[in-house]
Amino acid sequence: MRNRTLGTTGPTVSALGLGCMGMSALYGEADRTESIATIHAALDAGITLLDTGDFYGMGHNEMLIGEALRSTGSANREKALTSVKFGALRDAAGGWSGYDGRPAAVKNFLAYSLQRLGTDHIDVYRIARVDPQVPIEETVGAIAEQVEAGYVRHIGLSEVGADTIRRAAAVAPISDLQIEYSLFERGIEDEILPTTRELGISITAYGVLSRGLLSGHWTRDRQLAANDFRGMSPRFSGENLDRNLDLVETLRKIAEAKGVTVAQTAIAWVLSRGEDIVPLVGARRRDRLAESLRALEVTLDAEDLTAVERAVPVGSASGERYPASQMAQLDSEK
Ligand SMILES: NC(=O)c1ccc[n+]([C@@H]2O[C@H](COP(=O)([O-])OP(=O)(O)OC[C@H]3O[C@@H](n4cnc5c(N)ncnc54)[C@H](OP(=O)(O)O)[C@@H]3O)[C@@H](O)[C@H]2O)c1
Repeated sequence: MRNRTLGTTGPTVSALGLGCMGMSALYGEADRTESIATIHAALDAGITLLDTGDFYGMGHNEMLIGEALRSTGSANREKALTSVKFGALRDAAGGWSGYDGRPAAVKNFLAYSLQRLGTDHIDVYRIARVDPQVPIEETVGAIAEQVEAGYVRHIGLSEVGADTIRRAAAVAPISDLQIEYSLFERGIEDEILPTTRELGISITAYGVLSRGLLSGHWTRDRQLAANDFRGMSPRFSGENLDRNLDLVETLRKIAEAKGVTVAQTAIAWVLSRGEDIVPLVGARRRDRLAESLRALEVTLDAEDLTAVERAVPVGSASGERYPASQMAQLDSEK
């Protein structure tokens, strides 16, 4: 497994991380046994970075990871690094009601996460979305206190823009910014990526397969559970979906000519963007994980990169990446 280091102050992690969200939430039902087997297979293959959020299935995802870590060998357990997002407020019906970044809330969220994960520390801790009522300095300062206390190793950010990155980095060292980045979503390239590079902060990229849309496995007639995020996502709706899948077919021709899959090409493209970028793949089955891991062996040369970017030009994906109400919560889009 190749490694990459998160920022100038963060940990060394596998070049691909495993995003565990879909094992508990947002993408319909997942198979618990297969989810745990997928985490074990990832660790066995050398993946060390496991990404989660305390609100994914309202604690379910952390408990799942905790169980997977307890039931794997000690070598895997020792090298596994947890990246946890917090701050989302939920209700009993599964609804979402904003974010809480107050220092007292940071301590409280962290205590519950440690208990659910069954660990004595979290490797990278970050608020999922900025709390508009609480300056980022206060939230990051509260995490920094937990670093001092030994409960957190490193501080990350999620979906924030250049100004917030600078303000946060002025308070404490930041290892990485977690943000969507893929052939379908290149918004970070103008301002955010130059800022993280200037400040020595890495990117942990999510949605590298555009939540499955850019995987080569998505079909127009796929039936989605009522609670599947993708049923509400503009990119998966109506004519947007048709146009986006047409782009995938153009990419498929390039992938097939190289003897690889669409998903591998999409992941290899993100890997090719720089040593400071670590794609989080959202595999929740071992076959999908195996496919993703092979992306590490795919080299895209200059000619391949030109062909890939001609197939999926910047800004060519149709539809916003979140529904309007969720776009409004993204500091990174302001
Ligand atoms: N910071 C944030 O705001 C934020 C937001 C979202 C996610 N994240 C994190 O980033 C992680 C990755 O995001 P994501 O799950 O949306 O990313 P993704 O990798 O773009 O999408 C994952 C989905 O793609 C489908 N897929 C098809 N072929 C695949 C393959 N070969 N390998 C992997 N997946 C394949 C799977 O859907 P099916 O199983 O349904 O086929 C899977 O659930 C999440 O797990 C979460 O930890 C962070």
